[in-house]
Amino acid sequence: MHGRALLTDRGAVHGRALLTDRGAVHGRALLTDRGAVHGRASLTDRGAVHGPASLTDRGAVHGRARRADRSSNENSTLAEILTRMAKIITVAAYKGGVGKTTLALELAYLLDAPLIDLDWDKGGATRRWGYKAGESSPLLDALAHDKTPRPRKGRRKPDLVAGDEDFGEVQPDPDAMSHALEKWAAEWGRPYVVVDTHPGGLPSTHGAMAAASVVVTPAVLATGELDGLEGLLERAADYPLLVVPNKVQRVPDANLLRRLQNLVARYEVPVGPVVSEHRRLPRRSARMAISAFDPVPKAWARYAEELVSVASAVRSYGDA
Ligand SMILES: Nc1ncnc2c1ncn2[C@@H]1O[C@H](COP(=O)(O)OP(=O)(O)O)[C@@H](O)[C@H]1O
Ligand SMILES: [Mg+2]
Repeated sequence: MHGRALLTDRGAVHGRALLTDRGAVHGRALLTDRGAVHGRASLTDRGAVHGPASLTDRGAVHGRARRADRSSNENSTLAEILTRMAKIITVAAYKGGVGKTTLALELAYLLDAPLIDLDWDKGGATRRWGYKAGESSPLLDALAHDKTPRPRKGRRKPDLVAGDEDFGEVQPDPDAMSHALEKWAAEWGRPYVVVDTHPGGLPSTHGAMAAASVVVTPAVLATGELDGLEGLLERAADYPLLVVPNKVQRVPDANLLRRLQNLVARYEVPVGPVVSEHRRLPRRSARMAISAFDPVPKAWARYAEELVSVASAVRSYGDA
């Protein structure tokens, strides 16, 4: 294996994680899944040429049209049509700092989805998006009055339902949280909704996972982070998980990699495309999504491509 072979999975679809490597050779992706590879090829081309807008919602728009046709034939109510359309994508992990918020923001942009911020830490999506502290809280307001919040429009970043630092104390129980998310998603009528969560196995996070069509879990190859992943897998293996190795170094530690492989194999969890470690990322202060660059600066090209692969794996999750 000579440090080549790493993980692949045939897996987003079949839930079986196997190994391969298309990558260590070039110092790139270590884990792949078939869907991601296909998705990457087609989407990257398009994205590079036409810019992110065309690649973000192409699929979604087609899907919407198709579904609407079928539904109108069946005389479905508008609410039923909308419910069928909306897919909730929850980004969750038991450990902080693994890249949930960063990935949630980028994925929301790529999927043309409103981002709901259920994190209440200062480094969360709301602040990073540019929402000012002290503004009223659409999230708390919506939950307290059983209303559907109106996402604030983003320019070169996703639309946002801003979080609030009091959410930790007033968060609903799992059932109420998942019910609220499903209702909002249906009312918005957007193909996707992305939910960012606070670290840990909290009631609101479990509600957001229960409502999700895909639960994206960034996995960092480090001991504490893999302990966190193990904790999540123990409790949440029944959810539609997609493990996305994040901050992956050029030459990953072989033991940690083996541990990740064993974990995903034991819990039969699919592994998505790899996101490399991009050292410039933590220093970045700009608020726009990197996925919104058009054209993508050379320095971000690889990251942007990796994100497109993750978005594609999310879109095709569960497809036969
Ligand atoms: N692929 C990556 N490579 C390098 N740094 C990353 C990557 N993804 C995220 N980060 C950095 O890691 C830190 C934590 O990310 P964040 O998204 O806030 O994690 P979480 O929401 O899980 O706490 C941030 O400084 C972010 O810029
Ligand atoms: Mg976060």
